[in-house]
Order: sequence, then structure tokens, then C-alpha cells
Amino acid sequence: MKLSKPLFFSVIFLLTIGNPAGVHASDAGYNDRKKNGINGFRPTKLFVFGDSYSDTGNYRKLESFSWKQPYGITLPGKPFGRFSDGRVITDYIAEFLGVKSPTPFRWMNHAQHRLQYGMNFAFGGTGVFDTFIPGLNMTTQIEYLQKLIDDSVYTNTDLQSSMAFLTVCGNDYMAYLSLGGTKEGLPAYTRKVINQVAEDMKHLHNMGVKKVSVSSMQPLGCLPRATVHSSHRQCNESLNAEGSRRFETPLKPCCVGVSKEYDCSSVDKKGVKMYTMCSDPNAAFFWDSAHPTQAGWSAVYDALKATLHEHLF
Ligand SMILES: *[C@@H]1O[C@H](CO)[C@@H](O)[C@H](O)[C@H]1NC(C)=O
Ligand SMILES: *[C@@H]1O[C@H](CO)[C@@H](O)[C@H](O)[C@H]1NC(C)=O
Repeated sequence: MKLSKPLFFSVIFLLTIGNPAGVHASDAGYNDRKKNGINGFRPTKLFVFGDSYSDTGNYRKLESFSWKQPYGITLPGKPFGRFSDGRVITDYIAEFLGVKSPTPFRWMNHAQHRLQYGMNFAFGGTGVFDTFIPGLNMTTQIEYLQKLIDDSVYTNTDLQSSMAFLTVCGNDYMAYLSLGGTKEGLPAYTRKVINQVAEDMKHLHNMGVKKVSVSSMQPLGCLPRATVHSSHRQCNESLNAEGSRRFETPLKPCCVGVSKEYDCSSVDKKGVKMYTMCSDPNAAFFWDSAHPTQAGWSAVYDALKATLHEHLF
């Protein structure tokens, strides 16, 4: 594995609100930590909202390719509902907090013993607004948490020792563009998305969640599906400009369809694999055309770790 410089250290930078006054820039956590002193806040539960970057298995097995081979091949060795070959950022954030990765809410009835660590409401493909898939938008995901509070699964006291983590990886923009949205309209739409993210964060905070963090957008122009024309050598600068040195071929996904009609996990009518996989997913940043590998998430986490406590505690 070739690891040297941090890659995509901006993939996720955290915006945190930890103060009733509203949404703060990234130094809010630092100020809170100062305020709280050395025995600052330590969340004991993690509530997760968002999309495929944080989903740890909210789809049913037949609904999503995250449950198909070769997803999960690195860990645990078979598909387990994550959009990667192994762990995703949720798992790393949970590890950082010292809690088990929270159960997907879809499986909560089978995971009573895990409820104490919080819950994951994230659905791949979703956005703050409705997107191209029937999954729950973020507002609805948050309402599901409210429902669990109404049902006394969690108490308001629980929320005070909780952290919320949100991922908004860009499905809203894909939906906007696929519905014929124009480039000119994009800045206004972007503001709408950001305002809605802020609303969602405030909503959670008003419910009593002590800390609310959101990941920033990843560089869309560096996603494998945007770099296919350069054989994954260059980011599409018109979509954005961001690069990295950490992996040898950081833009090249590990698992790809054999041709344009196919994707990672595709099989033909006879069940024959219509995808190829790199020999070592640990050496790849991207797993498929949109999602990092476990090694990729681990690199993001490594880059974040040094400052995470400033954002979270
Ligand atoms: C989220 O989904 C619900 C239920 O489908 C819908 O009523 C609501 O308008 C959506 N909210 C947003 C912000 O798109
Ligand atoms: C970059 O993205 C834009 C917008 O999607 C597209 O029109 C353009 O063809 C892309 N350029 C390359 C080199 O892929």
C-alpha cells in the first residue's frame, strides 16, 4: 500500500453546532471545548443521517447493490449493506467516540442490545430534498428519530449525551441536474440545499442533541464517474478542482463494470459477473464509481482525527 500525503483531506471537514445560538463555523467545537474545560462533552450515542457515505445497511437485501457481491469483500468478507468494500466513515466516527457503530434503524428490532449506541437513519441515494430514489429525505429521517423519542425508545436525556452526524454527499445536485436544472440556476439551488442542511441541523439541536456535525461535499469532479474520460487520471475541473497524492492512482476505482452498461456488482442474466475488481482494494481510494473504499475512508479519518476532538467535544 502506498500511503504518504493525506488525500482529499477536504472530503470531510466538519461543521459543528454545539451552541443554541445556531450554526457556527468549524471553530465552534474548539470554543465549546474551552468552555467545557478538559472534562468536556463526550457523546455516548451517535445518531446518523444522510446518504450512502454514512448508510450502514438501511436498505433491505434485495433493494440495493450494497448487499451484492463484491461489496463488503474486505470487511467482513461479504456484503453487509455498506456502499464500500468495508467500513465507511460512520464506523470510524463511532470508533473515535468509543461506541459501537450504531445499528441501522431498519434492523433495530434485531439489535436491541445496540440501541444504547444510537442509531443510523442514513439511506444511500438520498438528499436533504427528495431525489431520484424513493429513500427517505433528511427531514423524514429526523422525524424517525422524533418518533423513537415519542415512543420512549430514547429519552430527552439521551439526546443531551448524543452527537448527530450528517452526510450530504451531493445527491440533491444530481437530482437537480437530472431533472433539467440549469448550470445558471445552480448557485441559487446550492443556497437552498445549504439552508435546508442548516434547518436540519438546527432541528436536531433544538430536539436536544448536544452536538450536530455535517460533512462537507466531496470534490464531485474527482468521482470516478466524472473522471472516466481521462481514464481516471484527472479531475474534471469544470466540476471542481481537488487532488491528492496519497494513493498511487487515487482517482481510479477498484470495482468497475466491464463496459458502460454495467457497474460494480452487475451480473448478466446467467449470473456471470459483469464487473472487474482490482487486486488490492487497500491500495485504492475509490471502491466504485461514487464511493470510497475502506482504505479511502480510513485515510479521510486519519486526516480528520487530529482535529476531530476540536469539532466534537
Ligand atoms: C421529505 O419527504 C416528505 C415525505 O415524502 C415530504 O413531505 C417533504 O416535503 C420532504 N421534505 C423536503 C425538505 O424535501
Ligand atoms: C466535465 O463535466 C462537465 C459537466 O458535467 C461536462 O460537460 C464535461 O464534458 C466534462 N469534461 C470532461 C473532460 O469529462
